[in-house]
Amino acid sequence: MRLPEFSAPAVAACLLALPKLSSAFYLPGVAPTSYKQGDAVPLYVNSIKPGPASDTTQLQSVISYDYYNPIFQFCTPEDGPQPVSESLGSILFGDRIMTSPFHLKMGKNETCLPLCTQAYDAIRLKFIKRRIEQGYKINWLVDGLPAGEQKEDPTDGSTFYTPGFSLGSLAEDGSASFHNHYNIFVEYHEVQHDKNNDDGQTWSRVVGVIVQPESKAYPAGNSDEDCDSVDDELVIGEGMGGAEVKFTYSVFWIESNTAWATRWDKYLHVYDPKIHWFWLVDTAIVVVILVMTVMSILVRTLKKDIARYNRLDEINLEDLNGTSVVEDGGVQEDSGWKLVHGDVFRNPSQPLLLSILLGNGAQLFVMTGFTIVFALLGFLSPSNRGSLGTIMILLYTVLGFVGGYVSARVYKSMQGDKWKQNIALTPTLVPGVVFFSFFLLDLFLWAKQSSGAVPFTTMLVIISIWFIISIPLSFIGSWLGFRSPAIEAPVRTNQIPRQIPPGPGYAKTIPSMLLVGLLPFGAIFVELYFILSSIWFSRIYYMFGFLFLCYALMIITCAAVTILMVYFLLCMENYHWQWRTFLGAGMTGGYIFLNCLIYLVTKLKLSSLVGIVLYIGYSALISFLFFILTGTIGYFASWWFVRRIYGSIKID
Ligand SMILES: *[C@@H]1O[C@H](CO)[C@@H](O)[C@H](O)[C@H]1NC(C)=O
Repeated sequence: MRLPEFSAPAVAACLLALPKLSSAFYLPGVAPTSYKQGDAVPLYVNSIKPGPASDTTQLQSVISYDYYNPIFQFCTPEDGPQPVSESLGSILFGDRIMTSPFHLKMGKNETCLPLCTQAYDAIRLKFIKRRIEQGYKINWLVDGLPAGEQKEDPTDGSTFYTPGFSLGSLAEDGSASFHNHYNIFVEYHEVQHDKNNDDGQTWSRVVGVIVQPESKAYPAGNSDEDCDSVDDELVIGEGMGGAEVKFTYSVFWIESNTAWATRWDKYLHVYDPKIHWFWLVDTAIVVVILVMTVMSILVRTLKKDIARYNRLDEINLEDLNGTSVVEDGGVQEDSGWKLVHGDVFRNPSQPLLLSILLGNGAQLFVMTGFTIVFALLGFLSPSNRGSLGTIMILLYTVLGFVGGYVSARVYKSMQGDKWKQNIALTPTLVPGVVFFSFFLLDLFLWAKQSSGAVPFTTMLVIISIWFIISIPLSFIGSWLGFRSPAIEAPVRTNQIPRQIPPGPGYAKTIPSMLLVGLLPFGAIFVELYFILSSIWFSRIYYMFGFLFLCYALMIITCAAVTILMVYFLLCMENYHWQWRTFLGAGMTGGYIFLNCLIYLVTKLKLSSLVGIVLYIGYSALISFLFFILTGTIGYFASWWFVRRIYGSIKID
């Protein structure tokens, strides 16, 4: 039974200020552990994940496996593998951490330690060969640090570590050798011993872990064989019947100057940060210039419009007060957006659905904002495994309140009368769709015996948080929202709807959506590429500064482009702006989905149908959330804009 550990999330601990650590304040899970000479340093195993076989090949699978999946037959500890408690986010993001049979003693070099010998049949060997071809990687954790491979960045020659080491290696002729000997290199840093507890011992901390796996064909029967004297590789050939595999490992301790506080730096290597900055600054400049130009033109035009409208009003009034009788059409009628003043605040069709989407969008918006701020403050360091996922879920749950409130307020302002449906569907519709799709995708993973399948207990935990915390909070929000007064429109709405003249082709719903969504997508395009590669290539994402800038840029462009669209739409005397703005800005999500599909075709080479289904399913899910998020930003920006401009003209 795996139960998520709720004490782990940093935020919960910070908010509740649990004085768990007396001497110094460290975030939970980040406190350093010091080991005496010879102390046991735990090595935990995590799931076996696919990775590209080399830097030049493409990712071929997205299905991960439990380390102790019977098909691999890896050696288990004497008393059986035990699950290590994990946070909710860690489980959701695919961590399956278990104890292992490895014994590491601080500072003690040991070579050729035997683990166990396992008999493999043909089916297992074939399965393993296929996984080696797909570049699967073994993931271990030593003192919370991932065991990695050392790599060199070809652009600047700096070395860095990537988490995980390969299950086997491929030869030119297509034969695969299975790694059954592990050379574990642990870097340690000596710390000044404790003054209160001075027993002359030096204490050390783990600051880096590298595993160089090897394949060794040990001769059968001879158990005392020295592993260094075996040079032949354990090759899995075509149609091999079966094999006995002996597993061994060596541990080497290497002193390092790296301090404990900076031990993650080598894992957080950014490929070519210059390109990153270059792209970001480039897009930022283009976006800012574009937005500023457009906005200044818009503001000037609007000022002129408003001045003209208000002047026309005065002329009309003078004419009416004068002696001459004004004939119909005698005075130049206003043109442009003022004409639709009696319709612009007409309630949209489907107000229930729109208000529910807007409520959920507001909830997502606030959640994303808080998450990025927490990340910037350093709460979501990678040493706090799964903290990102945990924080997002906790925030989303608590912010159910915001969702209910916004949805109710918007619905009330749209004069909706199905308030019961509104209250009930706001916390259930969108989360329900997301949860149901997630559950369906989970069934695929489960059928494939993948470790990525979220355990049943975790599902139950999520459902109970949703029903026990999120939904009641949303109800409270809705109640408050319905109790507050409806937001009054600045102008009165006419009884009879006005006819909408046919506009040009690009003003139709679909073309305008395609145009509007493009620019916000452009703002996050580069960052999206890095996020995608960190998700699918299990790289650690730690560029929250970039992410923050991109998020801000996305909000600005979303708002600006939608406002521009609304202005054109109203000038064409089309007053159906509510859904248009939501769909138009939400199209950013559509572009994200398209981008994921292009990524699938160009960067991935998924060989199984299940892999493709999973990839497309998760991409669609993420894009759907983006659709709601950006749609909401677009809607509220234009809502503010429409109220501003119609509030500033005089209407008789
Ligand atoms: C352990 O092995 C490493 C790597 O071979 C070596 O640098 C180090 O000096 C060894 N330590 C001891 C105590 O022998």
